[in-house]
Amino acid sequence: MTTIAPEDTGQEALFDATIAADERIEPRDWMPDDYRASLVRQIAQHAHSEIIGMQPEANWITRAPSLRRKAILMAKVQDEAGHGLYLYSAAETLGTGRDELLDKLHTGRQKYSSIFNYPTLTWADVGAIGWLVDGAAITNQVPLCRCSYGPYARAMVRICKEESFHQRQGYELLLTLSRGTEAQHAMAQDAIDRWWWPSLMMFGPPDDESAHSAQSMAWKIKRHSNDELRQRFVDICVPQAETLGLTLPDPDLRWNEERGHWDFGPIDWTEFREVLKGNGPCNDERIGRRRRAHQEGAWVREAAAAHAAKHPAHTPHAGTDQEEAAR
Ligand SMILES: [Fe+2]
Ligand SMILES: [Fe+2]
Repeated sequence: MTTIAPEDTGQEALFDATIAADERIEPRDWMPDDYRASLVRQIAQHAHSEIIGMQPEANWITRAPSLRRKAILMAKVQDEAGHGLYLYSAAETLGTGRDELLDKLHTGRQKYSSIFNYPTLTWADVGAIGWLVDGAAITNQVPLCRCSYGPYARAMVRICKEESFHQRQGYELLLTLSRGTEAQHAMAQDAIDRWWWPSLMMFGPPDDESAHSAQSMAWKIKRHSNDELRQRFVDICVPQAETLGLTLPDPDLRWNEERGHWDFGPIDWTEFREVLKGNGPCNDERIGRRRRAHQEGAWVREAAAAHAAKHPAHTPHAGTDQEEAAR
């Protein structure tokens, strides 16, 4: 618990009233330390997932089967880099710099989504990631557009628009493969068999084991529980899989008239915990690649800083000051 000094009590009441009225908390507003820390943790994990998520798909850019597919995939992977940038910027408004967050990622002190520790074995995996992984991301993220912290909520609006494009391109890719040759259909089915369960794990542990959920919901950072969102995702995917002509690898999947939802089989949480602990198929490869990219990019950061120091007039604030002085 945060200790509130007496002079701050008015600010705390204002914070509580803002949350209760469903209005936004902005960077300069007073906020409880735990609210700030919780947002930094969530936004950082989200930002890390966006940039690590570039790797499994970028693996296929040079092998895309046509110019059209290559252009789509390159645009998608670039979008993910952009999502990372919006989110690191949102974390900066809370007083946490990008260098610090990247350092925590590189040293394993902050996590990214477990899903990106699985390999992309065939071209169909690009479709499965778009349909399922980006689809799960949208289900998670649409409610975040109404998150109580303004900069995070606004970043999510743009991200969600781009995620829907990602989901559609994956769906269309799978549809093409599914309706193609027997071998192409089998490749699409194999990708779904491998990505289905890990994408259900993307919603996080079941509600009764989720460490941060209750507080995040009280603060209106999160709007729905992990299990609610997971169910919503399953309900969306079942009819889409049918249209795709592909089978979801769950023998327990059946319509529950009473609940008005699809029932599904048990999730292997041991696998989830192992992947989170660092024992997934690609954990070392992903983080190793990220660290190398960061090292190899050091000269770009140095050059940008040197350029900014040499040409202060080009930085927006200095420019504004000079214009101001000239008036
Ligand atoms: Fe993204
Ligand atoms: Fe995406």
